[in-house]
Amino acid sequence: MNAPSIPAKPRPEAKAGILNIQAYVPGKSKLADPTIVPVKLSSNENVLGSSPNAVAAYHEAATQLNVYPDSRHNALRAAIAERFRLEPERLVFGCGSDEIFAILNQVYLEPGDNIIMGQYGFSAYAIGARACQAQVRFADEPKLTTHVDNMLALVDERTRLVFFANPSNPTGTILPDAEVRRLHAGLPADVILVIDGAYAEFCDAPEFSDGLDLARTAENVVVTRTFSKLHGLAALRVGWAYGPLHVVEALDRIRLPFNVVLPGHAAAVEALKDEDFQRRSLELIHTWRPWLTQQLGGLGLEVTPSHANFLLVTFPNTAGKTAAEAEAFLAARGLIVRGVANYGLPDSLRITVGLEEHNRAVVDGLADFLKG
Ligand SMILES: Cc1ncc(COP(=O)(O)O)c(C=O)c1O
Repeated sequence: MNAPSIPAKPRPEAKAGILNIQAYVPGKSKLADPTIVPVKLSSNENVLGSSPNAVAAYHEAATQLNVYPDSRHNALRAAIAERFRLEPERLVFGCGSDEIFAILNQVYLEPGDNIIMGQYGFSAYAIGARACQAQVRFADEPKLTTHVDNMLALVDERTRLVFFANPSNPTGTILPDAEVRRLHAGLPADVILVIDGAYAEFCDAPEFSDGLDLARTAENVVVTRTFSKLHGLAALRVGWAYGPLHVVEALDRIRLPFNVVLPGHAAAVEALKDEDFQRRSLELIHTWRPWLTQQLGGLGLEVTPSHANFLLVTFPNTAGKTAAEAEAFLAARGLIVRGVANYGLPDSLRITVGLEEHNRAVVDGLADFLKG
C-alpha cells in the first residue's frame, strides 16, 4: 500500500522580486592557493592602512564595548560640519554610505516607482530600489561617463531618485560641475539627485566639484560620502550624507538607531583630524595613478583616465587575451584585481592603485601575460 502523501507545508515566501535580485558581489579577497598571502587590489581600499590616530581611538573604544553608541553621532556630526562648513542638522549617518542608499530608496520608493542610474553605475543603488519593488532604469554611458541627456530622457512621473557616483565606479570617470548642474536643472523638483562622493577626495580636476555647494541651496540634492576609501576605515562602515532638512529628517526616522558603532564613530573623528595621513594617501594616488596609466597604456591596454583610486583597464578583443585570463594570471602571482563582467564590462579589469611594489608587480605581470 502506498504511504499517504503528506501535503507540503506552506513556507514563508520573500516578497515579489526579492529572489530576482542579484546580491552585491564584493571584490575577491582570497586566492585558490591558501599558502599565498595575496595583495588585494580588488576593493579600492586604502593600501596605506588607516590613520594611526584612528587606530588608537578604535583600541581606546574597546574599554566601552558595553555601552550603546551615540545615536545622534554628535562628535562626528560636529567634526564634519566644521570641516566642510555644513549645517550639522542637515547631516545623516549610515553604516557605510551603502546604508544611506538603502534608506533613501526605502523612504522615497513605492512599488512601481523608478530610479535612474548609469549603465555602469554602482550596483548598491539598484539592489535597494528593487527591494522596494521599484524599477531600475539604466541610462547609456557612451565613453564610460555619466550622460546627462540620457538620464533626463528616462525621467517620467514615477521617477523619484537619480543616482550617480562622481567620480564613478567602476569607470573612474567624472561628470564636470557644469554638467551636474545641468542634470539637476533638468530634473523635476520632486526628484532627488543623489551624488555619491565615495571617491571625491581623489579628484583634483578643475572642472570637478564634490556637489556640496549645489546641495547647500537645493531642496532635492543629497551628497553621500564615506570613511571607507581615503580614510581607510572600510571595516568600520562609516558613511554620511548632506541634504535638505526634510530629506535628512525622513531618513533619520527609519535608519537603525545605533547604525554607526562606537569604535567606528571614535575612529572616524580621529581620521578626519589626521591631515597628514590624508595627504600621504592622496600623494600615493597622485604619484602612481598616472604612472600605472602610462605603463599599462604602453603595453597596448586601454586605460580609462581615472579620477579615483583605481583604474579601469580594457583588453583589446583583437589580441586574443581576455580580461578573465589576465585576472587569473595575476591571481597566480598573488595579485587580486577585480573582474567587472557583472557591471557589463567583460573585457575590463578594475585595479586599485597600490603601493609601489604592487603597482610594479601588476605592470610586470600584465607585460608577461601579454607576451606569453
Ligand atoms: C561608488 C561607491 N559608492 C559607495 C561605496 C560604498 O561605500 P561604503 O563603504 O561607505 O558603504 C562604494 C564602495 O566601494 C563605491 O564604490
